[in-house]
Amino acid sequence: MTKKIKIEKPKGKLGILMPGLGAVATTTIAGVHAVNKGLGLPIGSLTQMGRMRIGKRTENNQPFIKDVIALQPLKNVVFGGWDIFEDNVYESAIHAKVLEESLLKKIKPQLEQIKPMKAVFDHEYVKRLNGKYIKKAKTKMELANAVMKDIEKFKKDNDCDRLVMVWCGSTEIYIEEGDVHQTMESLEKGLEENHKDIPPSMIYAYAAIKMGIPYANGAPNLSCDVPGMVELAKKQRPL
Ligand SMILES: NC(=O)c1ccc[n+]([C@@H]2O[C@H](COP(=O)([O-])OP(=O)(O)OC[C@H]3O[C@@H](n4cnc5c(N)ncnc54)[C@H](O)[C@@H]3O)[C@@H](O)[C@H]2O)c1
Repeated sequence: MTKKIKIEKPKGKLGILMPGLGAVATTTIAGVHAVNKGLGLPIGSLTQMGRMRIGKRTENNQPFIKDVIALQPLKNVVFGGWDIFEDNVYESAIHAKVLEESLLKKIKPQLEQIKPMKAVFDHEYVKRLNGKYIKKAKTKMELANAVMKDIEKFKKDNDCDRLVMVWCGSTEIYIEEGDVHQTMESLEKGLEENHKDIPPSMIYAYAAIKMGIPYANGAPNLSCDVPGMVELAKKQRPL
């Protein structure tokens, strides 16, 4: 039986939090600011330009998704994130070389305001990187708590009503799903005991999901894709 889920109407600002402010994240952020300034269209954005079919094909009723589902308009979106380097989003976007410098210059004031928060990072999981802008703590649980504090501050400072987190960090080493990932309890014990199979992406995921914030994984790491995270998510946001 299909269960009906009531989706609340959006209000206030939507904060999009990204661990990893590199090419993917800064291109997304710059794209949204460029669209908001009327410098381009959101080509490729399902929510903004995608259509859905209602009824039979022959009825030819294909409105924009954004006109059917109550979504926050791009003007009400704010961005934040974490990185192991201190570059602001403008500097990082220039470095990434995805978008042309001439376009980035037009939205420089908006982009340079977005500065990374100190990352949860461990060289063991991404061997080619050596950033210094990282959090220090005794346990992985303490690091998760520090991320939760960052999230609370971001929400307050930016006057956000709702938040989502999207992992945009570098791909971590391959980790097999193991016992530590199986339940919420084993995951929390693993965080307290610095289990080696809990990489930084999982620490961010745990922090977001624990706060009831939806978490999307943009990379091929395990990240949120383990039973313990699903159990936590169901507990925090029962449908
Ligand atoms: N899903 C997709 O279609 C798609 C497409 C392209 C890239 N990707 C994935 O997205 C991720 C990012 O790609 P990119 O091209 O932006 O890479 P990138 O190297 O330009 O950016 C990654 C950023 O993450 C930062 N970082 C690494 N570990 C971090 C951590 N623990 N906390 C905070 N920041 C951290 C790096 O310093 C860097 O700035 C990669 O995993 C890539 O595989 C996915």
